[in-house]
Amino acid sequence: MIQIAPSILSADFGRISEEIAAVHEAGADWVHLDVMDGHFVPNLTFGPPLVARMEKPKGLVFDAHLMVTDPDPLIEGFAQAGCHRLTVHAEAPIHLHRTLSVVRSHGMQAGVSLNPATPVSALDWVLEEVELVLLMSVNPGFGGQRYIPQVTGKIRELADILAERGLAIPIQVDGGINTETIGEAAGAGATVFVAGTAVFGEPDYRAAISALRERAEAAVKPRRKDLG
Ligand code: DX5
Ligand code: ZN
Repeated sequence: MIQIAPSILSADFGRISEEIAAVHEAGADWVHLDVMDGHFVPNLTFGPPLVARMEKPKGLVFDAHLMVTDPDPLIEGFAQAGCHRLTVHAEAPIHLHRTLSVVRSHGMQAGVSLNPATPVSALDWVLEEVELVLLMSVNPGFGGQRYIPQVTGKIRELADILAERGLAIPIQVDGGINTETIGEAAGAGATVFVAGTAVFGEPDYRAAISALRERAEAAVKPRRKDLG
């Protein structure tokens, strides 16, 4: 039930297909693609043409995270490039509900993301439209930042709302996830973990992914016991 999603933001872009194959072989569940437009966030990465050229190992989920002001014109391109999941920020499109239905109409699972300062209530009227909620645990734009501890309470708040409403939507956490922080995020109710530096910054990808998974699973077990 725990999914580890290495972010290629910290990978070697000159050997991107090899890097993706390496994390796949090392046990990654998803590969996380951080798309930045230099406007919604102060950094630029890549768009659909590059994703289309990435080799896609069988069984590896391609999970795009759009940190862009205007996602709508890019949705079709990412679907054609082979993405399985596409997450947009609640702060970005004017017509979030429509954007999410367009993502789904292109055969992808729709996700919605919140910046650290955006309250969970921003999602009240779109939760039925998504297959994932991504809570940012850093201000988006760069890898290698510190986990913002207040986000743990936000994960808990969202997990409670989802349980009350009977929605089995996974909570993904992104930013500053490492073996020190993954436990508290998992204990609060997150099940999908993006990790850039904590995977691609380590010499042994398999050991890094296993260590993250173990810490997350260890934190989830006591919570399951509480629930009886
Ligand atoms: C931040 C990105 C993250 C980031 C995570 O804008 O959305 O996916 O790459 O990197 P680490 O794990 O290094 O914080
Ligand atoms: Zn991301």
